[in-house]
Amino acid sequence: MDFPNELLHWYHQNKRDLPWRHTNDAYVIWLSEIILQQTRVEQGLPYFNRFLEKYPTVSDFAAATEDEVLNLWQGLGYYSRGRNMLITARLVQEQYGGVFPSSWEQLIKLKGIGEYTAAAIASFAGNEPRAVVDGNVYRVLARYFGIDEPINSTQGAKTFRKLANELLNRNEPALHNQAMMEFGALLCKPKNPACGICPVREGCYAFKHNAITTLPVKLNK
Ligand code: ADE
Repeated sequence: MDFPNELLHWYHQNKRDLPWRHTNDAYVIWLSEIILQQTRVEQGLPYFNRFLEKYPTVSDFAAATEDEVLNLWQGLGYYSRGRNMLITARLVQEQYGGVFPSSWEQLIKLKGIGEYTAAAIASFAGNEPRAVVDGNVYRVLARYFGIDEPINSTQGAKTFRKLANELLNRNEPALHNQAMMEFGALLCKPKNPACGICPVREGCYAFKHNAITTLPVKLNK
């Protein structure tokens, strides 16, 4: 089996049961991805549930006041995320008739949505072949392929994005993306990765060359 297929196989056996993995509703996926930016899953989960309960649709969200949203957001930090969500929900209500877009080209234009989030929503909700590149993906690719370009340099970002898109399973982009991120979150962790039980360690550059602690490379800017 090749590397992406090994990860897919691992994912089916090891994935966490997370609520946003049971939907292809772009609004619900957007909600989860914005909350999970800079926030761990365990911390974000109760917020996700409260938001979805209070605002089951983007139209409900669009009708909220900023005070209400920021009140629900309390404790998550980076409050601009909450403010941007309201701006985006209202725009989706007005310009898209309350139907949250699921194409990358439309998503990237929305406030608070960058390349990662646009790729996540487009692949999870629209099954569009867009590879996600988040911190997990950088780490997994840097270690497995032995890439020492800094992940926070322009050239590095380009290299990783290109590789991620070459590896993407175009028939199953949603599963592929979830698998890459879950593998980085649960097994190929920043500290103390579980190389002892890793299904792809035989092909892993960092494992072979003892470079687990030096990859990925990040520049101090
Ligand atoms: N972190 C960001 N997006 C995530 C997702 N879809 N599943 C698990 N963790 C995530």
